Amino acid sequence: MNSARRSFAGALAAMDVVIEVMDARLPGASCNPMIEELRRFRNRSCLKLLNKADLADPDATREWIAHYNTQPGVLAVAISAKHPADVGRIPALARQLAPHRSGAEKPLRMILAGIPNVGKSTLMNALLKRRVAKVGDEPAVTKGQQTLDLGPGMTLTDTPGLMWPKIEHDADGFMLAASHAIGRNAVIDEEVAVNLGTILLARYPAFIKTRYRIDTIGLDGEGLLEHIAHLRGCVRKGGGFDLEKAANVFLTDYRAGTLGRISLETPESRQRMLAAVAKEDGATA
Ligand code: G4P
Repeated sequence: MNSARRSFAGALAAMDVVIEVMDARLPGASCNPMIEELRRFRNRSCLKLLNKADLADPDATREWIAHYNTQPGVLAVAISAKHPADVGRIPALARQLAPHRSGAEKPLRMILAGIPNVGKSTLMNALLKRRVAKVGDEPAVTKGQQTLDLGPGMTLTDTPGLMWPKIEHDADGFMLAASHAIGRNAVIDEEVAVNLGTILLARYPAFIKTRYRIDTIGLDGEGLLEHIAHLRGCVRKGGGFDLEKAANVFLTDYRAGTLGRISLETPESRQRMLAAVAKEDGATA
């Protein structure tokens, strides 16, 4: 993290606008606070892109956009890097943030940042209309730094170094793992799936009911996983449910958007989570 910090801080000195990519389904958990801290320190504007908006709950996304747009020097928009029309709006939005930079003499210099798997490579390829970065659902595919011309008077530099999320809270770790922003070996799928089940049963019971044909009243995350194992025939050779396999079925459904458009957090739920953590910390201090 220290080398990522150093190289980002170094590169930032010669940039005008930070383009920060987050996952619209979990903007709070998928932002790296270091990006915000350094860009404020350098007094750089920030275009916050809530990417994968096609998978996120539009109401929650609207709330996040309104939340970020109250912050100084920030312009937040929801996009899908897979939709060319969304990507096409980005250069003009970035220009709004640094109107003093234009033309070949003073090109608008943008730096792309974000934690792994939020869609930076997809976005970069779409912006350049050619394949310059490898896209993959396995985290951390983009490794080096590159600066590319993005049309007349505009350059785009991608993030030097890997910006892993800062996982201060267990809740964030679970959301990031469910959304595949942290690697498969870092966490146990079963635990992640139970946690995801708990969130979805509270926020989107109708999606669960429709997809897995189950009455959700009184159901918890563990019960849901057992039901999915039963429904999808996930059983061990010696007998008993194969909950790891069921977890995989459930996580794949969520990641692919098969359950419906889902957001794992809203500005309000995040504030509640942070307040609960602060209270707990206060009680144990
Ligand atoms: P990164 O550089 O930040 O690490 O992310 P990357 O672009 O590699 O994207 C990670 C995964 O997220 C890829 O899925 C990519 O297609 C998907 N993705 C990126 N942007 C969007 C978006 O706006 N909407 C949706 N639905 N998915 C997006 P993948 O399964 O590895 O690749 P693919 O089979 O989809 O190409």
